[in-house]
Amino acid sequence: MDTNTEAVDVVVIGGGISGVVTLKCLLDAGLSAVVIERTDDVGGLWKFRENDYGVMSFTHINVSKYNYCFSDFPFPDDVPDYPHNKDMAKYVGNYVEHFDLRKHIRFHKKVLNVKKENNTWTTKIKQVEADGKTVQDSAEEEVINSKFVAIATGHHAKPSYAKFPGQDSFKEKRVLLVGIGNSAVDVAVNCATVGRCKSVYVSTRSGAWVVPNYIFGHATDLYACRLFFKLPWKLANTIFEALNPKMQALSTQPTVSPTLIHHIQRGNIKVVPNVQRIEGSKVVFMDDTSAEFDNIILCTGYKIDLPYLEDGVRDVVLDDEHNDIKLYKNVFSPEIGSSLAFIGFVQPASGGVLTMSEIQARWFAEMCKGQVQLPSKSEMEANIAEEKIVCSSKYYKSARHTIQRDPIVYNDEIADLIGAKPSPMTNPGLAWRLLLSSCGASQWRLQGPNSWSGAADAVKKVPLTDLMNYSGILVVSVIGLVLAYFLSRVFGIY
Ligand SMILES: Cc1cc2nc3c(=O)[nH]c(=O)nc-3n(C[C@H](O)[C@H](O)[C@H](O)COP(=O)(O)OP(=O)(O)OC[C@H]3O[C@@H](n4cnc5c(N)ncnc54)[C@H](O)[C@@H]3O)c2cc1C
Ligand SMILES: NC(=O)c1ccc[n+]([C@@H]2O[C@H](COP(=O)([O-])OP(=O)(O)OC[C@H]3O[C@@H](n4cnc5c(N)ncnc54)[C@H](OP(=O)(O)O)[C@@H]3O)[C@@H](O)[C@H]2O)c1
Repeated sequence: MDTNTEAVDVVVIGGGISGVVTLKCLLDAGLSAVVIERTDDVGGLWKFRENDYGVMSFTHINVSKYNYCFSDFPFPDDVPDYPHNKDMAKYVGNYVEHFDLRKHIRFHKKVLNVKKENNTWTTKIKQVEADGKTVQDSAEEEVINSKFVAIATGHHAKPSYAKFPGQDSFKEKRVLLVGIGNSAVDVAVNCATVGRCKSVYVSTRSGAWVVPNYIFGHATDLYACRLFFKLPWKLANTIFEALNPKMQALSTQPTVSPTLIHHIQRGNIKVVPNVQRIEGSKVVFMDDTSAEFDNIILCTGYKIDLPYLEDGVRDVVLDDEHNDIKLYKNVFSPEIGSSLAFIGFVQPASGGVLTMSEIQARWFAEMCKGQVQLPSKSEMEANIAEEKIVCSSKYYKSARHTIQRDPIVYNDEIADLIGAKPSPMTNPGLAWRLLLSSCGASQWRLQGPNSWSGAADAVKKVPLTDLMNYSGILVVSVIGLVLAYFLSRVFGIY
């Protein structure tokens, strides 16, 4: 079979938000790059498809549009705070058109294999059918040689199904959702409302902190700000635990739902413990209670999947058994170095992955240009080990928490490496907001490589919540009073 070969600086695998933002950052840095995407469009899992993974037809994003957007391309004003998946797909498409990225994307091409030979990465690709999955056997195999590769294929593509004793004996008939993440809750509410199911049960082994979309009239993620993350972890948890003492609020990923509690209170949805075993259509729970069901939907999360990587590369990056990755700051393998980047392999604890993918992409672009370097292998390994300890001390043990980071803290950390960390010193007019508002994606474009002149205005458009504003005034007043007291003692005014 013939093989076509071409060369480029960087191959980016995947045309979801992580892939297109990486492409944009690489082009900004003056590099040549090509994105390989197996489907017919950009947007990844935001593009609803009946027969492929991704959003459900009713999914709205659960992070507000201020904290889930490209840093130099805010959402239009007329889009709601929590856009529907159609708005999300349209927005990603508009970004691609606006920055003229489409000509650098190869659609309907699937990456079969990526490997490194003599300092060059070779990426083998092949044409796929209209379904975006079936590889055309008769198609010519193409090879792209590059110095760098960015992997942006997402970590929410391969379902991780729970398996309970007796599961095979189940025959279809009432609905049980297993898991209490955003998928389970989204489906449960829709089964109870538009699906008009006879009974809807949600089974959970760890419970969840269910937060509403809005608190005191503001989108919930707007409360995540630097002042909050500067509080000692235990104190921050204690503030929430006063509201609900049963589970550490920050030790899990919040489940965002404006209506779940409403449906539980009205008996439309019943919450039960984890499944013990299944006997035909009867499900026995851990507390030995049981109920009959027609359908069981396993909303038990996803597994990180890197099928196109060679064993030697995949093994040093992926810990399959624990659904974990061994990457320095979730991007680079100490064994492989800066020539292979993983973009988007991070789980936000309190915001969206888009800003995290974008800062990773900017860091990678600077790395490709030789403007910044990685630390030594041993330093990176020590940092990975440290991060694992921090992560496991903060979040309870679960496959969904292995790559969890808080976006503001994480993005600042990476931004600092490329001079893009927002500073109140260089932006005094924004100092109050930088401390008390979540500030949105554009805060990391105020400075650093390819900063954006519209960034300050975009930051000012992100609502500053009343609660954080008054908390700031309170903190400043207390500090002022304490200072005044000490000054008066020192200078003997009283
Ligand atoms: C149902 C659902 C809802 C979500 N909602 C939210 C939310 O509200 N807020 C939030 O912050 N996060 C949400 N997420 C998390 C989500 O993972 C990220 O927000 C983000 O969209 C991931 O983008 P990505 O580009 O990294 O990956 P993806 O969107 O998965 O894109 C990966 C792309 O790579 C392509 N690809 C894969 N393999 C190959 C190959 N071998 N060759 C060529 N192309 C390939 C795929 O076709 C796809 O286009 C949600 C996840 C799910 C599953
Ligand atoms: N915008 C939206 O509305 C929306 C909708 C869906 C998903 N999402 C996003 O998509 C991502 C994935 O969410 P998700 O809900 O699909 O997965 P998830 O967050 O990983 O949640 C999985 C759930 O299943 C449980 N679980 C896993 N394995 C289990 C087992 N063997 N037995 C019993 N329970 C098990 C987990 O419990 P433990 O905690 O005990 O592990 C958890 O409650 C998240 O980033 C989420 O925010 C967003």
